[in-house]
Amino acid sequence: MSWITQQKLMDKPRLSSEEVEQALDLASNLVLQNLPVFTDRFPRAYSENGFYPATENLDWTTGFWTGEVWLAYEHTGKKELLQAGQVQMDSFLDRIKRKQDVETHDLGFLYSPSCVAGYKLTGSEAGRKAALMAARELAGRFHEKGEFIQAWGKLGAPDNYRLIIDCLLNLPLLYWAFEETGEERYRAVAEKHIHTALANVIRDDFSTWHTFFFDRETGKPDHGATCQGYRDGSAWARGQAWGVYGTAIGYRYTKRQEYIPVFEGVTDYFLSHLPEDLVPFWDLEFGDGDEQPKDSSSAAIAACGMLEMAKYLDEAPADYYRGMAGRLMKSLVDSYAVKNAKVSNGLVLHSTYSNHSPFNTCNHYGVDECNIWGDYFYMEALTRLHKDWQVYW
Ligand code: GLY
Repeated sequence: MSWITQQKLMDKPRLSSEEVEQALDLASNLVLQNLPVFTDRFPRAYSENGFYPATENLDWTTGFWTGEVWLAYEHTGKKELLQAGQVQMDSFLDRIKRKQDVETHDLGFLYSPSCVAGYKLTGSEAGRKAALMAARELAGRFHEKGEFIQAWGKLGAPDNYRLIIDCLLNLPLLYWAFEETGEERYRAVAEKHIHTALANVIRDDFSTWHTFFFDRETGKPDHGATCQGYRDGSAWARGQAWGVYGTAIGYRYTKRQEYIPVFEGVTDYFLSHLPEDLVPFWDLEFGDGDEQPKDSSSAAIAACGMLEMAKYLDEAPADYYRGMAGRLMKSLVDSYAVKNAKVSNGLVLHSTYSNHSPFNTCNHYGVDECNIWGDYFYMEALTRLHKDWQVYW
C-alpha cells in the first residue's frame, strides 16, 4: 500500500472502548427484542426493506443468528438468550439428523457459531452431537484428487469440481471435531484444504479468486472464476474479506510461518481498495463516485480477521491490525449500525448478498439490505474489541 493511502487510513478515528461497550449493549438489546419472533424460527439470509422475514431452519445462514444469540448471552447473561440458544441447538440437531442441506461446504458456517459455540458455552450434548455429525458430512466432501473440499452441489459434479475462498471459515469445525474425537482425518483434511486454497485462490497482486476449479481426472489446478463478484478478474469484496479472516484462521490452526505474508498481502489489498468511509463497495473494483451498493458485511468480516491475526503477531504489526479493525468498526457503528428497531430488525444496514453484473450469472438478492452474517460478524468484532474472546471458530 502506498504511504499516502496508509496515512489516510491512519488518520481515521478508532472506536473507543466506551463506544464498543455502547454498541455491544445496543446490539444485544436488539437481539433480545427479536427473540419472540426468532426462537423457533430464524431470520432469512437477507432482509427486505430492512426487515428479515422468519424462516424454518433452512439455507446456509441460520447458524449466524444463533451465533448472535450466544454473543448477546455472553454480553448480558440473560436467561432468555440461553433458553433460545438451547431451543435452536435442538433444531440444528434435528436438521443434521434429517440431512437437511448437507450437499454444501457451508456446514461450518451453520454449526460453528450455533452448536460448537453452544457446546463451548454451556456444555450442551445436543450441540456437541449436531456439530460432530456436521463435521463428518463436511469431511466427506474432501477430494483426494486436488486435495480440497468441494463447495457446492453433488460430489464430483463436473460443473462444480471446485473450492471457494469462503470455505476457509468452515474448517474450524473440522479442527474442533479433531480436538473432540482425536480422529486425525479431520485435521488432515482441513490442513490439506487450507494449503490447496491458499496456493490457488490468491493472485500475484494478493487479490483473490472467489472460486477455483480443478481437473477431475488429474486433480491439477485448472482455473479461477467468480460467482458473486463483478467479473472473473476482479476482487469480490466479501471474497477478499473471507480471505483476510481465512488466512488468519489458517495460521491460527497450522502456525505455518509462510501464511503470515499471505495474510498481510490479502489484508493490504483489502485495505488499500476501501473508499473514504472504509466500508467497501460490493466488489473492490468500485470506489467513491461509483453508483454501486456497499457490502458492509465485508468490513465486519475483515475486522474479525485482523483481530484474530493480531493475537499471533509482534506488538507493532498487531497494534497496526487492531487499529485498522477499530477504524472499520468505527465507521460501521457510526454510520451503518441500526439504532432503532423501527428502522430494521437487523443490526447493520447496507450489505450486499449477491448483485447481478453483466459479467457473471450470479443471482440478484439481498442488495443494500441487512445480511445475517454481516450482523453476526459485526457483533463478533465488537466482542473481540471488548474482551479476550474465546472464539467459536
Ligand atoms: N458464503 C457465501 C457468501 O459470502 O455470500
